[in-house]
Amino acid sequence: MSKNITIIGSGYVGLVSGICFAKLGHKVVCIDKDENKIAALKNGEIPIFEPGLKELLEEVKENIQFSTNLDDGLKVSDSVFIAVGTPQDEDGSADLSYVLAAAEEIAQKSDSFKLIVTKSTVPVNTGEKIKNLVSKTNPNLEFSVASNPEFLREGCAIDDFINPDRIVIGVEDEKGQEILSEIYAKFPKEKLVISDIKTAELIKYASNSFLAAKIGFINEMADLCEKVGANVKSLSYAIGLDERIGSKFLNPGPGFGGSCFPKDINAIVNIAKEHEVKLSLIESVISSNANRKLVMAGKVKSCLDGDLKNKKIALLGLAFKANTDDIRYSPAIEIAKELLKDGLEIKAHDFEAINNSKKALQNFANIEFCSDIYQAINNVDLVVIATEWEEYKDLDLDKIKNLAPGTAILDLRNLLDGQKMVDAGIEYSCIG
Ligand code: UGA
Repeated sequence: MSKNITIIGSGYVGLVSGICFAKLGHKVVCIDKDENKIAALKNGEIPIFEPGLKELLEEVKENIQFSTNLDDGLKVSDSVFIAVGTPQDEDGSADLSYVLAAAEEIAQKSDSFKLIVTKSTVPVNTGEKIKNLVSKTNPNLEFSVASNPEFLREGCAIDDFINPDRIVIGVEDEKGQEILSEIYAKFPKEKLVISDIKTAELIKYASNSFLAAKIGFINEMADLCEKVGANVKSLSYAIGLDERIGSKFLNPGPGFGGSCFPKDINAIVNIAKEHEVKLSLIESVISSNANRKLVMAGKVKSCLDGDLKNKKIALLGLAFKANTDDIRYSPAIEIAKELLKDGLEIKAHDFEAINNSKKALQNFANIEFCSDIYQAINNVDLVVIATEWEEYKDLDLDKIKNLAPGTAILDLRNLLDGQKMVDAGIEYSCIG
């Protein structure tokens, strides 16, 4: 059954969810305050980089509208999803001001029943806060609140939305459950996890914390493997075969980044502190990951024999992971900053993240941005792979040897085939 849905916030989560809801056959109105963004979306342009999203928007355009005016959504929908940002406050907690402002606006402008659903990642008790705020702002409004956290990943967001492992629905009453069940009616029933609101809110943080811990764990195992002469690839494969552990998210690398894990693990520690619970395991994941970037910068330095004077590296990859232009908390950027501070010269390449990186690294003079991989590699002392773009797997090794004779490759993503490098006579090192 087709529903009318309004989504406030056309950022990553809001936009992908809106377009995917439209794909499911619902009539969607996406709202954002940013007039330029809405104008672009009306023209079929996508302001973020996400594979397949532009094409999907074109496919579902009959089912989706974009507007800067919330009234356009409220007059046709009984369910309103809040998908605005919850950035990290100075103390590490989640800043709820955008979420609460959206809830207040819904209350001010609604005159018929609304189900107010948080899709943004929000701390426990946000549902309660929204409820109090809406009741206070518009005491006559009939409404219900719900939590429906999103688990999609950048780079494969459409597939994650359309083929989810689970759909979490936190509700306070039957009406909320009924509306959300209708919205997700096309998914197998067993995918729906229905809980109270607080549990739903916490499930999202717990999932991200567990995944971050898994990555932190394999990164530390990689360090240990290196020291004892073991092989982390085999170790990761073998422990992943145990179904209780699982093989996913066991790739060691330069540390996890992005707009979610770093922010959410800080936020959950803060939530716990407020309730006098110490999450010492997650606290150590935070410090382990922070230290990882320094360890990686140290690895680069030791590949250059500790002497950075008049040395140049090619940094391949700036995004926090492949298939995105996002550099928020990107380990590549943080490693670059460490090395640039120490005077190393960097020639950086990425397929999508150069514009964002230019802004982030604008205070450094000793970095050049190259849109061509081999322009970056030309005449360097070391090639460092920091993001796992598939295209780097097909580097032309003869060309590298010609352009940068004697250069070594340091692969911080364990992306390349080490044997191929050795056969080509290129010094190669990786993680673990
Ligand atoms: C993450 C979660 O995976 C999503 O389920 C969640 O919805 C999202 O956060 C969110 O909260 O919005 P995302 O930040 O897009 O998604 O990226 P991931 O694919 O999870 O990668 C996060 C970081 O971990 C990246 O820096 C990546 O390179 C790193 N990573 C991932 C590893 O170092 N090793 C791995 O094995 C996997």
